[in-house]
Amino acid sequence: MAAQWKIRQTIFAFLNPVRAADLERKARQERKSYQRWQTVCFKHDIVENDNRTAMKITEALLAEHVVFHNLFDHVERALPLLRTAAEIRSLGGLLQSLLNAHSEVEEELLVRPLDHCLDQIGHCETFHQEHQEIDNNLKRVQTTRNLKLARACLMSAVVASRKHFDKEERIVFPLAEKLLKSRTLTDLGNAWMKQSNCTMG
Ligand SMILES: [Fe+2]
Ligand SMILES: [Fe+2]
Repeated sequence: MAAQWKIRQTIFAFLNPVRAADLERKARQERKSYQRWQTVCFKHDIVENDNRTAMKITEALLAEHVVFHNLFDHVERALPLLRTAAEIRSLGGLLQSLLNAHSEVEEELLVRPLDHCLDQIGHCETFHQEHQEIDNNLKRVQTTRNLKLARACLMSAVVASRKHFDKEERIVFPLAEKLLKSRTLTDLGNAWMKQSNCTMG
């Protein structure tokens, strides 16, 4: 089909060179203005129900998890090689700021709408506690000058995060997919996108 179209286009260009050039220029302009339109829509959230850009909150958070799993791998590899508490604080600080942003959005856009269901299966309090435990370990990394303690706390934070993420992927995300309507998940996904744009400035 594409080959046929290409042959027709070549014949047309041979028979009508001026018209073909004109059409090509118009197509280029249209492509450019469509890209500009997409940028404007994205900036002002005009296409929030457009299937091309719609993303469920569960998909968005899962994509963030993938990035975090790579970061955890890096921390686990780098940690034994670091020789000062300051280096560990710096690595821990990076992880802390990224995890805080993730947890805040997750609590607001996913755990809160599911609070009552998680409560029923006895997981609601556990999830808040796990976020707290991870945060406490990362805070301890920032306050200690002891190399061994800094290393142990950062490693504990990574291990606890991996366990927590695994639980979310096995329990919370599937539960959200099951209990919340597809439209609600997409609306929450749009809210996530809006918050991410604000964070990026
Ligand atoms: Fe979480
Ligand atoms: Fe998460």
